[in-house]
Amino acid sequence: MTSLLERDQVIDAVTDIAQAMPMSVVPDFLGMPEDCRDRLIEWAVAGLEVGGPPSERVAAAVPLTIELAEYLGALVAERRTVPGSLGHDLLTAADREDVSMEQCPALMIDYFGPSLETTISALGSAIALFSQHPGQWDLLRANPDLAASAFNEVIRLESPLRSFTRVAGRNTEIGGDPLEEGSRVAVLFASANRDERKRDPPDEFDITRENADHVALGYGVHGCAGQGLARLEVSSVLTRLARSVSRLEPAGEPRPVVHSLVRGYASVPVRLHAA
Ligand code: HEM
Repeated sequence: MTSLLERDQVIDAVTDIAQAMPMSVVPDFLGMPEDCRDRLIEWAVAGLEVGGPPSERVAAAVPLTIELAEYLGALVAERRTVPGSLGHDLLTAADREDVSMEQCPALMIDYFGPSLETTISALGSAIALFSQHPGQWDLLRANPDLAASAFNEVIRLESPLRSFTRVAGRNTEIGGDPLEEGSRVAVLFASANRDERKRDPPDEFDITRENADHVALGYGVHGCAGQGLARLEVSSVLTRLARSVSRLEPAGEPRPVVHSLVRGYASVPVRLHAA
């Protein structure tokens, strides 16, 4: 951060901050060896892409997800997870037969898959939104305790995962419409978060509003398993920036990512003005 401020020039908030943060946490946390780290973002993007509806992009992502699965399969088989990490603890749990060794690569994929691009999206959107709303940045600077609410507001307004699907386990109904057992339903988190019956006004960025009941992290038993980490990553970046940066000046149009499930930016050019 200090070196970014010293540069006093236009930075790309996505590559310089949004990607740098989870990349400095998640690989160590999961115990990924150094030899795979330059592939992780690409693998994570592809891992989410294959969850989208059939398209050329989804087809192009398949070989990358196979590569990831093979890498993690070999990592488990060769027991190369870094000691002291979550991945290493998983292998120890398999030794105790709490989980089977065959399940370990899939469990690592499940945890790693949503761990990067989601947080990168939230951080990129946060910096884009604050650069476009300097009044909100001033509020955060005056009261850094608002960082937790700012995280909620960013992912409410710019939900990183727009939609997942669910399959009805039994005949039921939603809002009076019948739903047969086995039907697949799209759950539109991003749309629900801007529901005008619940938010007034829904499209405004306001870090002081009541927003903790958004569904950007899902809901219920399958709610996001990494949300504690994501909150910590995003709010620590915002708190640190708020201490040192008086203004985030837009320095070009943010460029959106093109992805089946993820909303976010591939590039957010900003100039950081040191406080
Ligand atoms: C701002 C960042 C993030 C957002 C917006 C987000 C969003 C979500 C959403 C919408 C779901 C689906 C919930 C459902 O199906 O009802 C989910 C599930 C999940 N997320 Fe996140 N996520 C974020 C960060 C992370 C991180 C950092 C990790 C891991 C380090 C992670 C791991 C998971 C896992 C393992 C699940 C599956 C939980 C289950 O099915 O039981 N997520 N996330």
